[in-house]
Amino acid sequence: MKHFLSIADLSPAELQDLLSLADRLKKEWKAGGNAPILKGKSLALLFQKPSLRTRVSFEMGMVHLGGYAFYLGPSEVKMGGRESVADVARVLSGYVDGIMARVFDHDHILGLAQHASVPVINGLSDYNHPAQALADMLTIWEHKGSFEGLKMAYVGDGNNVTRSLLFGAMKLGMKMHIASPTGYMLDEDDLELADSFRTGQAAFELFEDPLAAVADVDVIYTDVWTSMGQEEETAVRLQVFPPYQINHRLVSRANSDCIVMHCLPAHRGEEITDEVADGPNSVLFPQAENRMHAQKAILVRLLAPDYAG
Ligand code: CP
Ligand code: NVA
Repeated sequence: MKHFLSIADLSPAELQDLLSLADRLKKEWKAGGNAPILKGKSLALLFQKPSLRTRVSFEMGMVHLGGYAFYLGPSEVKMGGRESVADVARVLSGYVDGIMARVFDHDHILGLAQHASVPVINGLSDYNHPAQALADMLTIWEHKGSFEGLKMAYVGDGNNVTRSLLFGAMKLGMKMHIASPTGYMLDEDDLELADSFRTGQAAFELFEDPLAAVADVDVIYTDVWTSMGQEEETAVRLQVFPPYQINHRLVSRANSDCIVMHCLPAHRGEEITDEVADGPNSVLFPQAENRMHAQKAILVRLLAPDYAG
């Protein structure tokens, strides 16, 4: 693994390895702390969009492993404006051991990876959010014990988070239902690619009716109706999406032990009610915590490739 840009790039074995390592590093951390596997290593955190989880979880992940990370905000670097993506990649490669970037245009992630001589980690683009999907899979594994044949329903906007989740689900043998309004589904290219990743019992099905999509599932997942960068569409989306809200009525259609997930930040009262977000099926905050544990595995595999653990 040279970079971490998309779940699509990982073999099922690499995905399983990252999850196993994340699980070990999490247990080690809970038992008193991690070994300084990344001693002396540095990571630039380059953001074109806001963040709470991604920024803090990568930064603390580096600190726990003995490394160092620093934040570069949108007004500082102005990648693609003040300086080309290629030049930012070349310059940072002379200073740091890795680059984590959150961008609008996925081509900026690809450009960084093409021109950097150090590993690049995708911390969300308009196309995908693979670090989130890895943490989500860790969370599902912890709560359900396996992936094979497990049923997950994603209800809401077919977006960057959905795409990474679908790719991961197909590579791990899960069954995925996706319920989105017409015009807000993932596109044909995504579905064809996802189809090519299917292993074991993996399968996916598209729904317009959210109630049909969640029947007897083990996992319900949602995300905001308006993603970062789509703010001018907010009013239209608020008209379209209300039938796709995760509320008590919807959750009661799923298996009684289903877990409810959301990558956060949540717009409570829109895509998810307080009752569900704070209710007995919710794993929202353990899921958020798992960003840090999952990303430690990514960091170790990329920045300490000789680490044998
Ligand atoms: N889930 C997630 O990526 O959160 P932030 O936008 O706060 O980083
Ligand atoms: N789909 C959301 C995810 C935020 C973590 C967005 O891109 O804004």
